[in-house]
Amino acid sequence: MKKIGIIYGSSTGNTAGVAEAIAEQLSDYEVSTVEVSEADADAFTSQDVLVIGSSTWGMGDLQDDWEDFLPELEDVDLEGKTVALFGLGDSDSYPDTFCDAMGTLYDFFEGKGCKMLGRVDTEGYTFDDSTAVRDNQFVGLAINEDGESDLTDERVSNWVEALKTEF
Ligand SMILES: Cc1cc2nc3c(=O)[nH]c(=O)nc-3n(C[C@H](O)[C@H](O)[C@H](O)COP(=O)(O)O)c2cc1C
Repeated sequence: MKKIGIIYGSSTGNTAGVAEAIAEQLSDYEVSTVEVSEADADAFTSQDVLVIGSSTWGMGDLQDDWEDFLPELEDVDLEGKTVALFGLGDSDSYPDTFCDAMGTLYDFFEGKGCKMLGRVDTEGYTFDDSTAVRDNQFVGLAINEDGESDLTDERVSNWVEALKTEF
């Protein structure tokens, strides 16, 4: 059975909540959920699949714990590892940097040779700009708990179901 590690950074609990919802829907697999502030390199290398989440802070910045942790992965071999991303943001208040942290994480893990899964159509989202969009798709699951929390369950559920077919 595939080992899946959900690793997330969350400042006010929103990303933590989405990480839990994703874990529940992946309960057929061997899933561990770890906050990145508690993680070490082994949390990444020991898993078959990584589901990685961050909210966006400042003006398009990574969540603080990711900002602190990411340099620790700089010299860690993650070549070929399967990675899916999810990101929390607020497209009403930050329409020009919506879920940018997911774009930063994409560049990092893609640059390390990971196999990136879980793209999502931008249709149904309202925002002006995002570094998390490549070729007209989000590089992972974008969630707006501030303004569109009523859509979260459905977005998570659709995404996880699609992901399962890609593992
Ligand atoms: C000061 C501040 C800056 C933010 N900057 C952004 C941003 O640039 N882009 C974005 O999409 N969301 C931004 N957000 C929204 C957060 O990403 C959103 O509230 C998220 O759900 C927080 O998740 P967390 O509780 O897991 O950290 C910002 C929120 C605050 C309070």
